[in-house]
Amino acid sequence: MKVRFFCLGFTLVWLAVGCAGIHGLNLWPMPKSVSHGGQTLYMSKDFGLRYEGSNYTDASGILKDGFARLLDGVEADHVADYNSTHFDHSVLLQGLNVIISSFNDQLQFGVDESYKLSIAATGNPRYVYLEAQTVYGALHGLQTFSQLCHFDFTTRMVEVHQIPFTIIDTPRFSYRGLLIDTARHYQSLPMIKNVIDAMAYSKLNVLHWHIVDSQSFPLEIPSYPKLWNGAFSPSERYTMADAAEIVQYAQRRGINVLAEIDVPGHALSWGTGYPSLWPSRDCQQPLDVSNEFTFKVIDGILSDFRKVFEFRFVHLGGDEVNTSCWSTTAHVNKWLREHHLNESEAYQYFVLRAQNIALSHGYEIVNWEETFNNFGSKLSPKTVVHNWLGRGVAQQVVGKGLRCIVSNQDKWYLDHLDTTWQDFYMNEPLTNITYPTQQKLVIGGEVCMWGEHVDGSDLEQTIWPRAAAAAERLWTPYENLATDPKKVTGRLAHFRCLLNQRGIAAAPLAGPGRVAPDEPGSCYKQ
Ligand SMILES: *[C@@H]1O[C@H](CO)[C@@H](O)[C@H](O)[C@H]1NC(C)=O
Ligand SMILES: *[C@@H]1O[C@H](CO)[C@@H](O)[C@H](O)[C@H]1NC(C)=O
Ligand SMILES: *[C@@H]1O[C@H](CO)[C@@H](O)[C@H](O)[C@H]1NC(C)=O
Ligand SMILES: *[C@@H]1O[C@H](CO)[C@@H](O)[C@H](O)[C@H]1NC(C)=O
Ligand SMILES: *[C@@H]1O[C@H](CO)[C@@H](O)[C@H](O)[C@H]1NC(C)=O
Repeated sequence: MKVRFFCLGFTLVWLAVGCAGIHGLNLWPMPKSVSHGGQTLYMSKDFGLRYEGSNYTDASGILKDGFARLLDGVEADHVADYNSTHFDHSVLLQGLNVIISSFNDQLQFGVDESYKLSIAATGNPRYVYLEAQTVYGALHGLQTFSQLCHFDFTTRMVEVHQIPFTIIDTPRFSYRGLLIDTARHYQSLPMIKNVIDAMAYSKLNVLHWHIVDSQSFPLEIPSYPKLWNGAFSPSERYTMADAAEIVQYAQRRGINVLAEIDVPGHALSWGTGYPSLWPSRDCQQPLDVSNEFTFKVIDGILSDFRKVFEFRFVHLGGDEVNTSCWSTTAHVNKWLREHHLNESEAYQYFVLRAQNIALSHGYEIVNWEETFNNFGSKLSPKTVVHNWLGRGVAQQVVGKGLRCIVSNQDKWYLDHLDTTWQDFYMNEPLTNITYPTQQKLVIGGEVCMWGEHVDGSDLEQTIWPRAAAAAERLWTPYENLATDPKKVTGRLAHFRCLLNQRGIAAAPLAGPGRVAPDEPGSCYKQ
């Protein structure tokens, strides 16, 4: 048995630097609290899962699958030799005992994601204990445990260090998002699943799927089967069953899918199948506000969405609307005059009508900030305003009593290749928001991978590791966050290398987004 020392993780800095040792406690994102010793145990050949004392019985197999992924991840890296005779039984970890209070495994916004992970100083046989309110908290605990397991080249077994330990953890924000855009470039299902996998490793929990835009409409809409005529090509499409597969794949990893249709701008591709959605053939967007068919189509899409996208929210866009086509097209202009609406009033009319359709399907709504900036007091109280343009917008939104998601483009847009991981790490969603009641209205933040310049060849290295830097900001308690990103460089480098080991093409830290390694050297130093 190794020499025991004990250090308590009161502060992140002290943990990361003072207690790092050879193997370090390279957890990412950093949990709420960690205390640990210095003993080492080895995973036994038949390290198993048991549920002693748990209410949850895992009928859906979510936990069993999560555990199988844990073992795959931990064992994939090297070939363990379990015939080693270096030690006796008492240093073997027999398995993981999971105790979950809730019988329910419905994933929804605000689900309890907390967990406690511990290994006692003594015991025979030895078990890891994972306690959580819900299976989704337990999945986070498995991710943390996976980061504590290391292959040891002397014993050739998987070691767990710093025993005994107790990790108590819970997220700071309940909405921790990543946007992908499948309208500017199509992304294959396996590619999307890889993104979801790495989101689970980083404890992000909302995949915002910006499915369609002006350039293409790749998704099947059974109610309006010609909409996907707007796909780039016949093969660059998703069936509804594909969408259901993505939703299910994400759900089983504790990740909700926020589907977006961006209206009335960003919707030119809709008219490929249904040209009457355009104001005219010469003036093709925004969607024709004067045509009842436009709202029928939105209703049909959301009714189809409701069968597959089970998240509480749907995103209705509402950004960058240039309404000039409405005035310059004769029949729309006539409608405007008959209804005594100018262009900006018609924009408001459109957004609010689309909101009501979403509400009628049981959704709460996310809209980009322009809707708030133009007619904030008119928005449904069930609106979450998605900040992207300006500073100080979140502050105004919560001041008006609405909820907000922060994605300010100067810091959290992944397509901005000159934005560094340090910028992503330091972007604080609660800047200038001091009242606790207003702070609660900031439900979280989201990093955005707009798709103009990413396809299957460069998606992963543009997202990672910068999205992971933001993930710690969204997960870890404010008091534990580093005030200087230098203090987390080593730990993030470890996480980046872990992503690479798990088959995710995360880019080096040295440099802004998507750079290649600069020179020969260790993964941990680049
Ligand atoms: C380990 O031992 C078992 C049983 O003694 C044997 O069947 C197996 O081949 C051994 N594995 C290795 C890698 O030596
Ligand atoms: C299991 O459920 C019962 C009844 O709701 C509750 O009293 C008990 O505390 C739960 N067990 C755990 C481990 O949470
Ligand atoms: C709005 O669109 C019209 C034509 O569709 C274009 O002439 C005009 O420049 C656009 N305005 C802005 C601010 O982009
Ligand atoms: C549209 O009408 C509103 C009043 O209903 C007015 O405040 C606004 O300035 C008008 N917009 C334009 C572009 O004329
Ligand atoms: C916070 O407030 C300061 C001072 O008013 C301002 O300069 C800064 O831009 C604000 N930051 C954000 C993110 O709103």
